[in-house]
Amino acid sequence: MIYLDYSATTPPHPQVTARVAEVLSQEWGNPSSIHQYGQRAALVVERARLALAALLAVTPEEIIFTSGGTEANHLAIFGVAQNYTQPQHIITSAVEHPAISAPLAVLAQRGWQITTLPVDATGRVDPETLLAHLQPNTVLVSIIYGQSEVGTLQPIAELAQICRCRGIVFHTDAVQVVGRLPVDMPDLGVDLLSLSGHKFYAPQGCGALVVRRGLALQPWLYGGGQEGGQRSGTPPVALLAGLGMAAELAQTEFLPQQAYLLNLRDYLCARLLALPGLRLTGSWSDRLPHHVSVVWQHGDTTHTGKTLVHYLNQRGVAVSSGSACASGKTQPSPVLQAMGYDDRLARCGVRFSLSHYTTKSELDQAVTALGEVLQRLTPALSWS
Ligand SMILES: Cc1ncc(COP(=O)(O)O)c(C=O)c1O
Repeated sequence: MIYLDYSATTPPHPQVTARVAEVLSQEWGNPSSIHQYGQRAALVVERARLALAALLAVTPEEIIFTSGGTEANHLAIFGVAQNYTQPQHIITSAVEHPAISAPLAVLAQRGWQITTLPVDATGRVDPETLLAHLQPNTVLVSIIYGQSEVGTLQPIAELAQICRCRGIVFHTDAVQVVGRLPVDMPDLGVDLLSLSGHKFYAPQGCGALVVRRGLALQPWLYGGGQEGGQRSGTPPVALLAGLGMAAELAQTEFLPQQAYLLNLRDYLCARLLALPGLRLTGSWSDRLPHHVSVVWQHGDTTHTGKTLVHYLNQRGVAVSSGSACASGKTQPSPVLQAMGYDDRLARCGVRFSLSHYTTKSELDQAVTALGEVLQRLTPALSWS
């Protein structure tokens, strides 16, 4: 089987797996306990915090561990919103992951005003548009950094700068970016940043919200006061050890290999676009380094992107139709719709996402398999 769905999840790196197993068997204490077992477990957690902080150029105190990207996004949104006794105004974009749009919909039901910024045909938010939609009561702007379905990178530093000089909190969902592109959070100028371990070779079920020093959030989970009181609950020590190891590996192994990934991405893109009926989606110039997405122009309501995913799976190639969370549904992709695709084409997106382990030979096999599938579904096209 050829796995080309690394945006959905990545396999844990062998060193991560080894570290998780070691901690599970040897450092199983509760980090809140004051005896030796607890203190050793607490050290494991703090070592992981240091490694993640180093990856993002922040201080360890700015990291709040969570169960993943979804929880980090909830903490960011509700942590800011609950600072206010009355509903205020929040700005977001039309291409967010549901882990942002769904909690914002909950706030809308509670009387908050939510502005959803449009995007251009590549999925990009224009900073001028953000500027035009700010209101005196705007308290939070949340814009995704790297779009999971179409790979577009937003001009986060520019967007954050607009908010910073007006005292508006800026959050970015960087789940697809951390571990794949260098992220220097102070340089980026954001106040809050979400990440998820399983997108960069750590286990599923761990992640973090990074909170700029001095920014006050209301807690998300109340209880024993762990994570500086922001997120109560006994931390999953072994998973966090894996996250810390993945952060170290990102710095030493993966980020330095970015050229390899870019080369693979561009190779795959050129080969896919040579097949009849496929069109690239998202930005080409500002794009996640491991990501290629296309629409299949000859799809219809019965033969959609999911059809291609299904046939490719039968031929031993694992890809995705849009984001993993939406792939079980047959509705048009809201992300592609926001980029101006009609309902038919918005059902026909397919995503290929690569890793440092992917080889050109795997990509060749995947493209051959896709060519066979397309030829079977659209025999009338020119296949010379
Ligand atoms: C951009 C983005 N945000 C948030 C999430 C949710 O992260 P998690 O699976 O860790 O909850 C994902 C997962 O696909 C994602 O791609």
